[in-house]
Amino acid sequence: MSRFRIAPSILSADFGRLAEEVRAAGEAGADCIHLDVMDGHFVPNLTIGPDVVAAVTAATSLPRDVHLMVSRPDDLLDAFVEAGATTLGVHVEACHHLHRTLQRIRDAGVRASVTLNPATPAASIEHVLPLVDQVLVMTVNPGFGGQAFIPEVMPKLRQVRSLVDKSGRAIDVQVDGGVGLETIEEVALHGANVFVMGSAFFRADDYADFVRRIRARLQPYE
Ligand code: DX5
Ligand code: ZN
Repeated sequence: MSRFRIAPSILSADFGRLAEEVRAAGEAGADCIHLDVMDGHFVPNLTIGPDVVAAVTAATSLPRDVHLMVSRPDDLLDAFVEAGATTLGVHVEACHHLHRTLQRIRDAGVRASVTLNPATPAASIEHVLPLVDQVLVMTVNPGFGGQAFIPEVMPKLRQVRSLVDKSGRAIDVQVDGGVGLETIEEVALHGANVFVMGSAFFRADDYADFVRRIRARLQPYE
């Protein structure tokens, strides 16, 4: 069993055939489904709400990793828990009371993920590590699929990995944005173990073959 996990982002899937796409991702070897929620305010784009998360929940038994890119995440937590999120992620930059928000997510019985924009320092999550199950290090500025990977984030990814290891807790380190065949080795080398992939995954002609090629590149870093 690999320590690495592949999380296709449905942002780049065919929304007209969403259930089929989610099932195909599972059959191809995905480990969880990543869902990007955008409010047109925290980020300049609008995407999905709880009803689409519920539709994905009905279509798959894979875990649902919900990435909230919204200005007021506290108002929406309950709706996404009811819709079947198994991990709920909030941005450091969007939370006035980050500790409280993460505590609420845990109290709701789902995994808590804390997310850092490219310009936000690793130190901003240090004091909430006892509350989280995952740290998401953004490797693009959030808002759109298909953007170019930002290599300047790599030193921070290494710092986050080191903080997580020092915590002694089993916390996943996830990357999101511009991850694909060309960048997978770099993010693995710098400490990521969960890889969100939107355009690279869903633009592949054969999802299973894509997963095999990604896993082959990860092999030396197991
Ligand atoms: C970006 C989203 C990502 C997006 C990644 O704001 O958080 O999850 O789907 O897309 P790619 O993999 O195409 O960069
Ligand atoms: Zn995302």
